[in-house]
Amino acid sequence: MLTKSKFTKMKKEQNKITMITAYDYPSAKIAEQAGTEMILVGDSLGMVVLGYESTIPVTVNDMIHHGKAVRRGAKNTFVVVDMPFMSYHVSLEETMKNATVLFQETEAQALKLEGAGDVLYTIEKLTFGGIPVVGHLGLTPQSVHVLGGYKVQGKDKKTAQQMLDDAKRVEEAGAIALVLECVPKELAQLISEELSIPTIGIGAGADVDGQVLVYHDILKYGVDRLPKFVKTYFDSNEHMKEAVQSYVTEVKSGSFPKEEHTFTIDDSLLPKV
Ligand code: KIV
Ligand code: NA
Repeated sequence: MLTKSKFTKMKKEQNKITMITAYDYPSAKIAEQAGTEMILVGDSLGMVVLGYESTIPVTVNDMIHHGKAVRRGAKNTFVVVDMPFMSYHVSLEETMKNATVLFQETEAQALKLEGAGDVLYTIEKLTFGGIPVVGHLGLTPQSVHVLGGYKVQGKDKKTAQQMLDDAKRVEEAGAIALVLECVPKELAQLISEELSIPTIGIGAGADVDGQVLVYHDILKYGVDRLPKFVKTYFDSNEHMKEAVQSYVTEVKSGSFPKEEHTFTIDDSLLPKV
């Protein structure tokens, strides 16, 4: 398994880091077998797996439940688990408790926290306690209602400067990597150049140190409308629906199951009626 220092080395060598989300045993197995270096158990699970409108309803228990399944499917990959909505804002004590149980139960390599501001102190405390932290700036979906929607961040002089300052503070607080979501590529590039920890972009252009995408988005699996920054590599919706339709049709017509799917005994062994 790659470690924290290997990712910094990859940045220096301009060897792009690949990250994908996973939420369960099969998606984690595929992510690991495909050779991604980092798996994110994202709280996007609330939307793509649990069918919520946003990531806000996701709980610490949801993250533990799914994080444990991911760990079972990807024993040799660096796994990052999201701290969900409000699980790191109420008090330091509650934050440390939530982080501890998430980190221990899922056997993650790191936890991811959105934002800067008061969260910087939390990043410091977690790091001090031995929990590596990945930061997340730009579009931070847990704050969607404060940001006023899912939109590109850092588009004007003031917010661009703020994001660069925040990114530096996230690094200073001890984060091992920084996710940049929905950020203009010029700003994402500048931030990547200014930091020594790797940046991992999603909708942040190519001039960052790695990329992350949502598993269900690249496989078009259960999702319909996709953001501009997603590339889909397979249409699971179409192919899986066709496969299930074939099953339905064959059962109706009697062409499934066939002999080869069937167990038999000799007629003489059947109960007399
Ligand atoms: O939850 C998630 O999938 C994420 C990525 C979009 C970075 O946080
Ligand atoms: Na997330």
